[in-house]
Amino acid sequence: MIDTEKEKRNFPFEKGDQGGFIGFLTYWGLFSHVVKQLQTFSISIQQGFGFRGVNPLNRLVCSRCARQFSPGEKLWSCPCGGLLDLAFESVFPIEKIKKRRPTLWRYREAIPILKDESILTFDEGFTPLLPLVLNGKEVWMKQDHLFPTGSYKDRGASVLMSKVKELGISRVVEDSSGNAGCAIAAYSARGGIRSEIYVPENTSPGKLAQIESYGAVLKKIPGSREDTARAVWEAAQKDYYASHSWNVYFFHGTKTFAFEVWEQLEWKAPDTLILPAGNGTLLLGAFIGFNELMEAGMIREIPKIVGVQSSHCAPLAKAFREGLKDIPKIQAQDTLAEGIAIAEPVRGKQVLEAVKKSGGAFLSVNDEEVKRSLRFASGKGFYLEPTAAATLAGVSQYLRNSDPEEIIVSVFTGHGLKATEKILKILGEA
Ligand SMILES: Cc1ncc(COP(=O)(O)O)c(C=O)c1O
Ligand SMILES: [Zn+2]
Repeated sequence: MIDTEKEKRNFPFEKGDQGGFIGFLTYWGLFSHVVKQLQTFSISIQQGFGFRGVNPLNRLVCSRCARQFSPGEKLWSCPCGGLLDLAFESVFPIEKIKKRRPTLWRYREAIPILKDESILTFDEGFTPLLPLVLNGKEVWMKQDHLFPTGSYKDRGASVLMSKVKELGISRVVEDSSGNAGCAIAAYSARGGIRSEIYVPENTSPGKLAQIESYGAVLKKIPGSREDTARAVWEAAQKDYYASHSWNVYFFHGTKTFAFEVWEQLEWKAPDTLILPAGNGTLLLGAFIGFNELMEAGMIREIPKIVGVQSSHCAPLAKAFREGLKDIPKIQAQDTLAEGIAIAEPVRGKQVLEAVKKSGGAFLSVNDEEVKRSLRFASGKGFYLEPTAAATLAGVSQYLRNSDPEEIIVSVFTGHGLKATEKILKILGEA
């Protein structure tokens, strides 16, 4: 249906590992402007074939060699080893969206799953956006700790595991510091798909219990988070890698964060987003989501994105501060904020590019600030795991110099019930 040579000219990505993500979005924007003319026609054709208004022109595109693949291929990375991105045009029929159930699937035309029968869901999402006053200033906090498995990772898992079902895959592997593993295990259980989850040995016992109770095979790996990533790598050569950092469908789930914020702020983008930055799965998802909204003419500008890292493990903050193009090797130390302690973020260059492109910055917070924020949040009735409190500590830092008029959105990413031992220890120290 589409001239491939012409498409190729529309994707002149910068070659190089993980490079060209912003270029990718820009050129995809130009390309999609042309295909917009075809959209009405294509949607009616899809409906004729039982699809629900999903753009059929979507393509997996390698960020290293620019090769393109059909979304029907069972690929989580390019054969050249590069990261795959997804060229996909989202549509936002507001009047239809308003009438749908309050779940992340209400943005159906913006989620790259072809058939409704493929959808694996617990009716998750559309989490409350509540105001919180901090240092005398108001911030909007998205309550993503209220997802079915207790963290925002369900956004990515719902969409990624739906894609797994659509591809007819029956076994997946994943590695995680805990929460992504819980989410992939739960949605695998929902879909009757076998999952094997690799985690660092020192992961919170609550998360380990949760993963196992969903029926996943748990692989506890001694050493660092990076040792766990290396251990899963071999398994991923045989089984489909439902990875929250490699697999692009995860990001097309986390992008729904942006759509919900936009709707909850009465169809407007905030000025600033303050988000965690470990592997950056929520941060990059939000960046993709707001770009899609801009491309569809729903907003004029994307928000400034501020990424929060732990000062015990802050390679992105260091790259930003020192103006580096590549993510530096760092000596990571243990931190209470286990979920953002990622020394080698897979899409690190994309995260760095996204933050720069948005006019944002990185902040880093230490464990004392994490504890203070955790106690503050609990005192206001929000029970968080320490990694989630780290983002709040970043908000607190940011507010010292913020404009009083600025509309700021941040997030509670994980529930406190996952980290009872750590929280008991923090209480014991008070
Ligand atoms: C509760 C919580 N918050 C934040 C993060 C950081 O997310 P990301 O690695 O996507 O930046 C994680 C990751 O596991 C998490 O579990
Ligand atoms: Zn490639």
